[in-house]
Amino acid sequence: MQPTPSALSVQPSGIREIFDLAWGRPDMLHLEVGEPDFPTPIHIVEAAFRAARRHAGYTSTVGLPVLRDAIVERLKRVHRIDVPAERVVVTSGAAQAIAAIVYAMVGEGDEVLVPDPGWPNCEMAIAGRGGVPVRYALPASNGFVPDPEDVASRFTQRTKLLVICSPSNPTGTVIPPDVIEALVRVARERDVLVLSDEVYDEIVFDGREPDTALHHDDDGVAAVWSCSKTYAMTGWRVGYTAVPSWLTAPLIGIQEGSVTCVAEPCQAAAVEALTGPQHAIVEMRDAYEHRRNVLLQLLREAGIECVVPSGAFYVMFPLRSGADARKAAIDLVARGVALAPGTAFGSAASDQLRISLAASEQTIRAAAERLTAWYADTDGALAL
Ligand SMILES: Cc1ncc(COP(=O)(O)O)c(C=O)c1O
Repeated sequence: MQPTPSALSVQPSGIREIFDLAWGRPDMLHLEVGEPDFPTPIHIVEAAFRAARRHAGYTSTVGLPVLRDAIVERLKRVHRIDVPAERVVVTSGAAQAIAAIVYAMVGEGDEVLVPDPGWPNCEMAIAGRGGVPVRYALPASNGFVPDPEDVASRFTQRTKLLVICSPSNPTGTVIPPDVIEALVRVARERDVLVLSDEVYDEIVFDGREPDTALHHDDDGVAAVWSCSKTYAMTGWRVGYTAVPSWLTAPLIGIQEGSVTCVAEPCQAAAVEALTGPQHAIVEMRDAYEHRRNVLLQLLREAGIECVVPSGAFYVMFPLRSGADARKAAIDLVARGVALAPGTAFGSAASDQLRISLAASEQTIRAAAERLTAWYADTDGALAL
């Protein structure tokens, strides 16, 4: 007995290595994980309790009608787009939406264009299907913004999906609307679906407005969102996607054959999240923005300039050119700071570390102190 070669080829995330190394050490400053450090707002938790007391059974595969309607309203409110409820599918987190879309679109040997650096789980889903992730670079020298011409040059006859992610994990970059539009156009010209990962859409800084690739092509984009980051609901596992109408039937089949439906109390929590008070979003976003400013200032004072992120809750920390981020992250654990190595996100950021802003200002200040001292001692990790 053995699993398929594709299943065997799925590599665990490089963030886990650091997480495991750092685990259980009382002095450790944890800035390696991408999980909000805020609790789920209490009105959302209470809505789940009420729902669970009422009924917790199977729901429609695509999600409760009231939740799909709430999603349609949210897309109108936040993105000024009109998506019919029939094209919305509720998923077990955005991770499962992405996996289901990959499942629907990618077969053995098919290629998927993915950002480098990019969220590693997406490549895992592709590999699990026997697909081939083809990375396109988000160069630090260009503020981690992709070059549409470079992306265009990587399409082949086997390309089935173009994955974009804005605001980005791990870089925090918000891709400018004209670049998103160019990427969507490039894909459309080749009849390739864009999978737009927008889970950080409302976590944008400096007065920016949330954006969606759906503005540029209603029928060639599958957009994915989540309650995880926006409402500090990672463990509730509620995400959702709006897909072109030609993709709804296969996607529903895949959902039915895999998760059946998302847990009903969690769907009720999501209804409350989307339709109830929204002030927690602003409070969390402002906190991330403030922490970003504090961190960048402390690093600047030590002579370290980072690309300024415009969203999500990450800062990429540049090591000296040619340094090995994995080695650096392991060495930093010994200094009491856990960060995610750029090597966990592809190869284009192999001399960068990702710092998560999902920790208190006090933790971030203490980490910056340890990090800058380490940077000076190791010549930006070159001496390791
Ligand atoms: C870019 C990106 N996409 C998707 C996800 C998955 O989010 P969810 O918790 O909704 O599955 C994450 C989580 O870290 C992420 O960073």
